[in-house]
Amino acid sequence: MAILVTGGAGYIGSHTCVELLNEGYEIVVVDNFSNSKPESLKRISEITGKLFPFYQMDVLDKKALDQVFSENTIEAVIHFAGSKAVGESVSIPLAYYQNNVIGTVILCEMMKNYGVKNLVFSSSATVYGATDQVPITEDTMLGAVNPYGRTKLMIEEILRDLSESDETWSIALLRYFNPVGAHRSGRIGEDPNGIPNNLMPYISQVAVGKLESLNIFGSDYPTKDGTGVRDYIHVVDLAMGHLKALEKIRSKRGVDAYNLGTGSGYSVLEMVEEFEQVSGQSIPYTIVERRAGDAAICYADVTKARNELGWSATRGIHEMCEDTWRWQQNNPEGYSEESKIKQETRSPVLKTAVGLFMSH
Ligand code: WQD
Repeated sequence: MAILVTGGAGYIGSHTCVELLNEGYEIVVVDNFSNSKPESLKRISEITGKLFPFYQMDVLDKKALDQVFSENTIEAVIHFAGSKAVGESVSIPLAYYQNNVIGTVILCEMMKNYGVKNLVFSSSATVYGATDQVPITEDTMLGAVNPYGRTKLMIEEILRDLSESDETWSIALLRYFNPVGAHRSGRIGEDPNGIPNNLMPYISQVAVGKLESLNIFGSDYPTKDGTGVRDYIHVVDLAMGHLKALEKIRSKRGVDAYNLGTGSGYSVLEMVEEFEQVSGQSIPYTIVERRAGDAAICYADVTKARNELGWSATRGIHEMCEDTWRWQQNNPEGYSEESKIKQETRSPVLKTAVGLFMSH
């Protein structure tokens, strides 16, 4: 029995695949490489010494998805695949609704056809909108303020309706706060397309010399030093949260949402200072206008995940910066050397046992 990981070549997906394999799970990965690189799959196998089947495909492709379910015995799905850039979602909303919402509906229909009713969904703290009520609990009012956040909110509602219609579904909605960091090996990490939108990859690209200096979006917020405060969570802690959620849905039906954060917040300037100490590099910055849509302060109340999943984050800001820096130093251009995936079959889906891929 295997865990299907959609978007498993991506930042959070690849880190979760490593922990699933380390825990002894069988996995099957699907990814269309729209926001990831084949190289990350190779690195997952390198880190764990484990092999897994991989299909290069889009979750929207029903024929390809049917092949995945027919060729593998899937017991649960962790669904990462989707578009995730807030700014981009404002300019191409239809693509976001297609990829994220329609893609999830197609996935759930296929799961239903094959009697697979266990799902862990990659949601986001963006579903809480720009609330300044902190700490944020799972009962905080929902209200997305951009198309990306609205896709996550709509999917959460769709999954609740699905569970209402068929009580045999077990679904965990994981609301990520601000994922940062990298596996301690420095072999996998965040590799954003183009100029990073998010703070940590931007800082690390300044530190490694890829970018000149950081623009800090506003220093007039009602916070300790005037800059935005966020709940940064180490991506490996986040990955472990998925394993705990997987365990939970094996024994509990229905739908539950969980905040995956640390429960504490750091400001932009605190993050810059910590990164400078860890990397020994100075991070030049300029204070500029606030970014539209940003909340002043956002951090999680993580009581529910601790009590119900038996999970809490263990890695602090120092380790987040250390692990990010190791990844960035070892991979200044990210996964630039794209590995060619050896095509195993002429099927409509490029089906590759990553192990074969590893042997070259
Ligand atoms: C963090 C802080 C910025 C960049 C976003 C998405 C959210 C989730 C996580 C997907 C803020 C400041 C940032 C920069 C800056 N993604 N900043 N200069 O906006 O909290 O959350 O990523 O689920 O959906 O909204 O993260 O890293 O963009 O910003 O000053 O170049 O850093 O103002 O205070 P955010 P972020």
